[in-house]
Amino acid sequence: MWIVSVINYKGGVGKTTTTANLAAELAWRGQRVLLIDLDPQASLTFSLVTPDEWERDLAASKTIKSWFDAFMNKSTGALTDLVVTPRRAAAVLRGKGKLDLIASHLGLINVDLELATELGGATLKQSKLNYLKVHRRLADGLSQIADDSYDIVLIDCPPNFNVVTKTAIVASDFVLIPAKPDYLSTLGIDYLQRNLNELVESYNEYANLEGTAGVARISPEILGIVFTMVQIYGGQPIAAIRPFIAKTKKLGTHVFDAHIRENKTIFGDAPQIGLPVVLHRYSSGTHNDVVLGLEEFVDQFQARLAHWSPA
Ligand SMILES: Nc1ncnc2c1ncn2[C@@H]1O[C@H](COP(=O)(O)OP(=O)(O)OP(=O)(O)O)[C@@H](O)[C@H]1O
Ligand SMILES: [Mg+2]
Repeated sequence: MWIVSVINYKGGVGKTTTTANLAAELAWRGQRVLLIDLDPQASLTFSLVTPDEWERDLAASKTIKSWFDAFMNKSTGALTDLVVTPRRAAAVLRGKGKLDLIASHLGLINVDLELATELGGATLKQSKLNYLKVHRRLADGLSQIADDSYDIVLIDCPPNFNVVTKTAIVASDFVLIPAKPDYLSTLGIDYLQRNLNELVESYNEYANLEGTAGVARISPEILGIVFTMVQIYGGQPIAAIRPFIAKTKKLGTHVFDAHIRENKTIFGDAPQIGLPVVLHRYSSGTHNDVVLGLEEFVDQFQARLAHWSPA
């Protein structure tokens, strides 16, 4: 079971859209996928379940917020108790693969603050131990999910680099970075990579401390950068954005050749329909082109993962 976090501290770059479509396409291909919505905005959640369903079935005790809360109140709870199977996607998948979800909650925003208060300690050593404990919270929770119950866990992160996002990275084998091909996003990717490296370095330094013998080091790999909302003309990204794609390729991190096309209508309607774009019925050529791009990205995503798979 691979664990992949979808991150970019920049907002509105297509993290949630990428996560939802990647998950749905993998499920369509027969994979068992667990989605975790770690963003208090709950966009992924509301792209798959209706607000009514969420309010009735999930809000009170079946979101990732209740799980973090239970931890802080020292009560036990298993992540698996929170898993739901969104109805509308399941109806389209009809038994192909699995598309499950652990939903989010607007109140998750407070969890970040509460976790941050748990970080201190009376001594330097104690604060380092607390650092490990807090950052391992999601990793420990996920370790209770049987390795053979899902092929992949995809975590949709909020647009920040706060503690909750860090718990996702610590739990992950890989991170996937959706990005827009524009000037500020290109600058941001470099900064994001530095933040990631710093997190891994601090965590591993603390994991090496005496008294933390049981804590494994982490080495989340950047699986790659995928460009989203790409404007196409004549089958190619438009001239205005090509320099940003070229510049990003020079950063040394893998950049997927496939990209996600811009189409405000098709992507904008998807959450209300409750289905990622790859699961829509369609007849137009434009829609077909968008889906082909998504499928090509998923081909390349799977090829990258296969690269790390044990023979
Ligand atoms: N390929 C696309 N073409 C056009 N619009 C898109 C595309 N992908 C996403 N969008 C739209 O852009 C907005 C942001 O997308 P999305 O929610 O996926 O980004 P995000 O990075 O998860 O945002 P946040 O940082 O708020 O979590 C949404 O309104 C979505 O419908
Ligand atoms: Mg999002």
